[in-house]
Amino acid sequence: MSKKASNFQKEERPQNRSLPKAEPATDRIKSAYHASKNIYDDVLTQGSFLSRMYIGFFWSGTDDKEVARKIMSYIPRDFTGNILDVPVGTAVFTEHKWRALSKAKITCLDYSEDMLDKAKRRLGDCGHISFVQGDVGQLPFADESCDIVLSMNGFHAFPDKKRAFLETNRVLKKGGRFIGCFYIKGKSRRTDWLVGRILTKKGWFTPPFLTEENLRSVLGRFYSDIDCRTDGSIAYFICTK
Ligand SMILES: C[S@@+](CC[C@H](N)C(=O)[O-])C[C@H]1O[C@@H](n2cnc3c(N)ncnc32)[C@H](O)[C@@H]1O
Repeated sequence: MSKKASNFQKEERPQNRSLPKAEPATDRIKSAYHASKNIYDDVLTQGSFLSRMYIGFFWSGTDDKEVARKIMSYIPRDFTGNILDVPVGTAVFTEHKWRALSKAKITCLDYSEDMLDKAKRRLGDCGHISFVQGDVGQLPFADESCDIVLSMNGFHAFPDKKRAFLETNRVLKKGGRFIGCFYIKGKSRRTDWLVGRILTKKGWFTPPFLTEENLRSVLGRFYSDIDCRTDGSIAYFICTK
């Protein structure tokens, strides 16, 4: 990775000092998503008045359902190849598409057993979908084995973003598509405050966070045909290996 592209790894290191030393970032992630497993879907889909207030006030009203709809539309309805969904979370945004893509082979991976269990409850009856507990930084898949890697709302949670970019790229076939979305800093002071002061401390988000420029730079190093857009503090993209 170029010096410029790897700068985002360094610039927020000081925040890591506030993490409790006894608990590795990955364990904090498991605890955080264990605690939020029953409210996650409601908040992300704005299922209640409070969730709508939260998204409106802190996230400039960016509708995660709409972002998800846009990036899922990048995957053809008759797609038949191998898809990796990392992290699948509860599959709240992917359930319908994955169910419909019955000729594709879909692997759903997440680090949190709690989130993965929710995804299994949603999609476990589909023979074309499998579930793996694992770390995006050490994907248990062969080089160039996937036609599409989808990473929705994952990179702002992953503790080692450099490894996550390397691993998602390694498992993609040449010509395969990398599709995703996640929080980028520098778009809204209010959102950045929330992320830095609350979501990071709770373990739902893990620094360092990328700016739009960082993201474009990293994607440009690994991919071509890049279409990267933003909606508030969320960037979403599709590109080709
Ligand atoms: C905000 S959720 C996104 C889930 C889903 N894609 C969505 O959009 O609803 C972030 C997910 O990243 C997972 N995660 C965090 N670190 C991970 C890692 N190192 N490897 C795999 N998954 C990880 C968490 O367990 C959590 O389920």
